[in-house]
Amino acid sequence: MITPLIMAGGIGSRFWPLSRKHQPKQFLNLVDEDQSMIQATVSRISELASHEDIFIATNQDYATDIQMQLSEIPKDNITIEPMGKNTAACIGLAALYIERKDPEAVMVVLPSDHLIKNQERYLEIVEEAAEIAKMEDRLVTIGIKPNHPETGYGYIHYDQKDKLEGNEDIFAVKEFTEKPDRKTAKQFLDQGTYLWNSGMFVWQVSTIRKMFKKYMPKLHQALERMKEAIGTESEFEVLTKEFEKLDSISIDYGIMEKADDIYVIPGDFGWDDVGSWPALERVREADKAGNVVKGNHIGLETKNSIIQGNGKLITTVGLEDVVIVDTEDAILICDKKKAQDIKKLRKQLAESG
Ligand code: GDD
Ligand code: MG
Repeated sequence: MITPLIMAGGIGSRFWPLSRKHQPKQFLNLVDEDQSMIQATVSRISELASHEDIFIATNQDYATDIQMQLSEIPKDNITIEPMGKNTAACIGLAALYIERKDPEAVMVVLPSDHLIKNQERYLEIVEEAAEIAKMEDRLVTIGIKPNHPETGYGYIHYDQKDKLEGNEDIFAVKEFTEKPDRKTAKQFLDQGTYLWNSGMFVWQVSTIRKMFKKYMPKLHQALERMKEAIGTESEFEVLTKEFEKLDSISIDYGIMEKADDIYVIPGDFGWDDVGSWPALERVREADKAGNVVKGNHIGLETKNSIIQGNGKLITTVGLEDVVIVDTEDAILICDKKKAQDIKKLRKQLAESG
């Protein structure tokens, strides 16, 4: 039996203006018409765990949205960080609640905003990862074969000959490198002995607690103080005080780059992290002109564009490779090649108030 932990506190700023501070990527119906990314994540893993065993980690801003979108998940399984301090703190806090419920739990940590095409294969691999994590203090990750020098992912250097005994497709990890620069990412790609980190991790709750103690002692000590307060009247107050003091560090930098006993299973199940508007071309169907359209659009000589409407008719003439997004109070018109810069734009918007 596994205990999934779905991380749902990220802001996903590259989908601005559809994703906002109060409505990040995981809550949007980006891929499916009828369910959000997080709803799809829960429904996928529900094949392996009952709703009573699924935990969702988020922060105060999104707790209500989660309860609304995922009414099947018990309220007590939604762990609420007083503020976002990245995935190490998120996983650390959730581990405290999970170990209270079951100290022997095998956690399956999942991002809330990815697409998986082959559900059956995905479930097989998660089960396999849980099997080997259950036996010893191991950190198990699911790796994806890279096809371009992406700088927004973690890279897993693995040895094709160093297999976990008795397993054909589980490899020891030599080194984990989070978000390398472009030059390094290119080298990794060319070497052919690297996998992308999918951001899915499997380990026993007791293992990850030990790892925090070893590699992130400051966070560990804060967690120990929080543990004392959980279930008492001062829980919220103590959590807030401790979170305020925490550094914002992801699990990838905080643990995965440092730890030794890491294993990787290549995940050949059709994975996409749907990271920005152009990713929709890979996951939604395009029309004859190569446009991916949601809503009402009429175009003359308009090709290879992404058009997301909001009720109004959108008309275009003589455009190619653009992203157009209409929402109630903001419109985005962007060169498709520059769609990664929407993150910068968002930052500028935040700074200008
Ligand atoms: N609860 C909570 N609190 N969730 C968080 C927080 C937080 O403070 N920060 C991020 N998350 C959630 C996001 O919503 C997402 O589901 C997941 O944790 C991963 O965070 P991202 O911010 O999306 O990470 P990333 O995409 O930059 O990098 C990670 O994923 C890549 C694959 O998509 C890393 O694990 C990379 O190594 C990996 O390649
Ligand atoms: Mg991500």
